[in-house]
Amino acid sequence: MRSYKEGIAHQYLMETRYDRASILRRDDFGPVPRPPVYKTYADAPKTQLPKPLFGETDSLWEILNQRRSRRRYTGDPISMMTLAALLWATQGITLSASGYQFRTSPSAGALYPVETYLSVQEVEGVQQGIYHFNVFDFALEEIALGNFGEHLTRAALDQAMVGRGAVVFIWTGILLRSMWKYKNRCVRYICMDAGHIAQNLQLATTALALGCCPIGAFYDEEINGVLGVDGEEETTIYLAAVGKL
Ligand SMILES: Cc1cc2nc3c(=O)[nH]c(=O)nc-3n(C[C@H](O)[C@H](O)[C@H](O)COP(=O)(O)O)c2cc1C
Repeated sequence: MRSYKEGIAHQYLMETRYDRASILRRDDFGPVPRPPVYKTYADAPKTQLPKPLFGETDSLWEILNQRRSRRRYTGDPISMMTLAALLWATQGITLSASGYQFRTSPSAGALYPVETYLSVQEVEGVQQGIYHFNVFDFALEEIALGNFGEHLTRAALDQAMVGRGAVVFIWTGILLRSMWKYKNRCVRYICMDAGHIAQNLQLATTALALGCCPIGAFYDEEINGVLGVDGEEETTIYLAAVGKL
């Protein structure tokens, strides 16, 4: 039997450690192309999202205290304004400075390698379907219409909350956006970025009295297939179901 130390998890950690002797040698392959910061589906039908309005909520401390992963939803719709607020909480642009557009969630090197897609299942004013979130324009770009709840449930190892959610967030990583700078260490950072985004979603859903559950268990290629991403340059890394409680 092989030792866990021969497995790729251990090897990855060992080979992507920064240490004083090797930090300058970590670039063990040639130059990596740098993709654009924003992905857009230029020809897709677009839905402009409303500028979110923020009502009174509990204090941050109370929201932190209440946050829980919740998996049972009523199946009732959420409003487009609520969806806009959730998207803003996860990836909204909050500051333009020094040639960067900084967002609500931090990102290693301000490179923003994580893309957001949605399976819209019950959102007032938005047809059921798969959408890409255009961060810069604060708009949804339509990829495919229809209810993908059941398909995604199967792809998420039959976790029923996926189909019951009003919306499912699907986050992908565009590897090269981070890799051109951080080389093999980029996978660590992309996953950290996604964690921040998901936590913002959980805090925002808690503030709005919605349920949310992060999901790491899914058949990667099945979700990639729904989005139409190749699973190599861009691949699904995390999901979250959101629904009314
Ligand atoms: C990276 C990650 C992946 C997760 N994947 C799943 C999942 O696939 N299914 C699920 O029901 N919960 C999933 N969860 C939720 C955890 O089970 C939950 O966070 C944990 O039980 C702690 O409960 P709390 O979030 O309510 O504090 C995931 C959480 C994280 C952070």
